[in-house]
Formats: sequence, structure tokens, C-alpha cells
Amino acid sequence: MPHDFMPGLAGVPAATSSISDVDGQRGILEYRGIRVEALCASSSYLETAYLLLFGHLPSATEFQQWITDVTHHRRIKFRILDLLKCLPEQGHPMDALQAAVAALGMFYPGRNVKDVENNYWSAVRLVAKLPTIVAAWARLRHGDAPITPRDDLGFSENFFYMLTESVAPPVWAEVFDDCLILHAEHTMNASTFTGLVTASTLADPYTVVASSIGALKGPLHGGANEEVVVMLREIGTADKARRYVERALQNKKKLMGFGHRVYKVKDPRAKVLQELCRRLFKECGSSPLYEIALEVEAAAGELLNSKGIYPNVDFYSGIIYDKMGIDVDLFTPLFAMARVSGWLAHWLEQLRENKLFRPDQIYSGEHNRPYVPIEHR
Ligand code: SDX
Repeated sequence: MPHDFMPGLAGVPAATSSISDVDGQRGILEYRGIRVEALCASSSYLETAYLLLFGHLPSATEFQQWITDVTHHRRIKFRILDLLKCLPEQGHPMDALQAAVAALGMFYPGRNVKDVENNYWSAVRLVAKLPTIVAAWARLRHGDAPITPRDDLGFSENFFYMLTESVAPPVWAEVFDDCLILHAEHTMNASTFTGLVTASTLADPYTVVASSIGALKGPLHGGANEEVVVMLREIGTADKARRYVERALQNKKKLMGFGHRVYKVKDPRAKVLQELCRRLFKECGSSPLYEIALEVEAAAGELLNSKGIYPNVDFYSGIIYDKMGIDVDLFTPLFAMARVSGWLAHWLEQLRENKLFRPDQIYSGEHNRPYVPIEHR
């Protein structure tokens, strides 16, 4: 064989990057060298997005300009709203998001990706507009008018406002902002890699992000957060968790929210998300799903921990969103709204020393077969 073939490119470096690092054995995640726990404790999603995109924490002046630029670009063209209105109401929000983001590029010059200034504004627009698109779809599909963003509200506060037309309790916005930080970036995951392949063809950033959204949707990747809450609801009560887990594993079913290609210990993000659950529950009461999740984690742990399979980022995140009254099929779009800064950071990094992604294959077919006319087949 010409090269060592690794299914799923497991363990095969696809790029060198200084954006984030994961230590899968010790359960450590750093963004530009800063532990994600420290960012949740002291930063905000917008400041973290700046760190990921531009490689350093912004000065006060830089941060104010970044906030102004993103806030100013939250609105979306009425034709994007018209496009969303044409989509089937029962359609999945990830499909609506992908369609709208792909169309977004038609309204803005983004083709010349060698223009640094243009690339900055493309990044601003995508970070700013994804939440507006997600909230608009969430309302339009129920026949409600979309809500215009409010420039006086912060990034997470404004998202809740566009979703509900009311200002969320401060704790909700703080917890949600930390969830966005936790989901912002994660080295060479499937959706980031997808975006890089698209970026390497010098396609525009809207197309790059649309391709990443497609990869994120799958249940083995970002789609797992929705599947976890569906599973917890199906289990119904904590006392049924153990039986469910045993039966699922006996039937070779994969437990959603468990396992990871890199982490062989508990995902550090899952630990922070549990703290965020407790913080939220102090404010508005616990969730029965959380008690069920704890029992699932305990039962699954006995059977899977020895194989290095632990809860990942998707196991507890949906419990938070569910407690906030967010529809379960919006959970993966929330993941996309956060990860767009990581995708764009890798896009900018790739452009600095671009090389078209074109891997090899190991041909397993035949050679020199004759063409058989249809009457003889
Ligand atoms: C994300 O890459 C990233 O960084 C992703 C992410 C990010 O921030 O971008 O962290 C976000 O996508 C988290 C993962 C969300 N997906 C899920 O929760 C879906 C359930 N998890 C699995 O499908 C699985 O764990 C993967 C896909 C996440 C990783 O699987 P791998 O590395 O391809 O490993 P594998 O599927 O080959 O499994 C190895 C073994 C198998 O057992 P054997 O056949 O060898 O006996 O572990 C078992 C698997 O059956 N296994 C599981 C399991 N995950 C792996 N068994 C039961 N339940 C599971 N969840």
C-alpha cells in the first residue's frame, strides 16, 4: 500500500495550527494557549471569538471596535428572510441555516479571499448574522414575525431577545454565553476539516461555513446534542436509566453524547457544562433530564470507561438549552452559531499558507474491464 491508510484519518495531522489544542489523555482544551475553563470564568463569547480569529486577546480599543462591528452587522437582508419563508416549516433548522448562509454570500463581496480587509468583514458578518438567522427561522416556522436585533443588548442577550422578544434573566445570558465559549473551537473536528477542504479551493467564506454546517449536522458530530435530549426523554425517569443503557449497549447501539476520537477521559467541556447546569438550576429549579443524565453517566461509566469512553460536550449541553425553553432541534444550530468563530479562524489560518486538500486513495476495484452492450447484460 502506497501509504498507511487510516480510516477516518484517525490520528493523521491534516494541518499545523496554533488556534487550539486538546490533550485527550489529561482532558485539557486550550484556545490560543488559554484553558477553556479560564475563558468561561473571565471572558465572553465575543472576546473569545476575537481571540480565536486574530490570535490574541483584544485591547480595550480593539474589543470595543469588534463589538461595534459585530453589533452593527446583526441584521439580515429581507431577501434572506424571504428565502427562509419559502422553506417547509417542518424542515430541520440546520438545513435552513445552511441554505441561508450559502445564500448570504450572494449579497456580499467575498470572492477575493486574498483581500485581508474583505476577509475581516466576512468574518464579522458571519459571526454576527448566524444567530439572527437561527432566531428568525425559529419564529418564521411557527408563523411568527422575526424580531429585529437590538443594538443595546449583548451578543447572548440579543439572541434570546430575537428568539422570545423578551430580555432573558442575566444568569441565562451568562450561562448561554459560556456554552457558546465551550462550543467555539475544537482543533481538527469533522466540520472544521470540511471547512478547510472547501477553504483550500479558495471558495468564499460563506461557502466554507455552509459546508461546515453540513458536516456539523450529523448525529456523530454536532447533531448528538439533540439526540441526547431525545434519549433522556425516551428513558423518562432516572430509575430506568441503567436498563436503557444496558439494553442499548447489548444491541450495539452507540450512546449519544458519549465517546470521542481524541478524549479518552471525560471531556473538560462536559464538566464545565455540569457546573453551568447547577448554576442555572439554582436560578430556575432543576431539570428531571439532569437526574436521568447522571444515572446514564453512572451506568454507562461502568461499561464504557474502561474503553476510554466518557461523556463529551454534547451530553449535558442540551439539558441547559431545554431548561431555557429552546426547541430541541435548535440545539445543533446553537453549536454552529458558536463554532463559526473556530471555523473562520481555521479558514484565515489556512489562507496564510494555502495548499489544496487532495488526498490519495487505495484503489480496490478492477482494471481493463470490457464494455458490455446492454443487450448482453
Ligand atoms: C463532537 O472531533 C471533535 O472534536 C468533535 C467535537 C467538537 O467539539 O467538534 O468534540 C464535537 O462531535 C462530539 C462527539 C458527538 N458524537 C456523539 O456523541 C455520538 C456518539 N459517539 C460516537 O459515535 C463516537 O464516540 C465518536 C464518533 C464520537 C468517536 O468515535 P470513533 O473515534 O470513530 O471511534 P469508534 O466509533 O470506532 O468507536 C471505537 C469503539 C467501538 O467499539 P468496538 O466496535 O471497537 O468494540 O468504541 C465504541 C465503538 O462501538 N464506542 C461507543 C461509543 N463511542 C464509541 N460505544 C457506545 N457508545 C458510544 N457513544
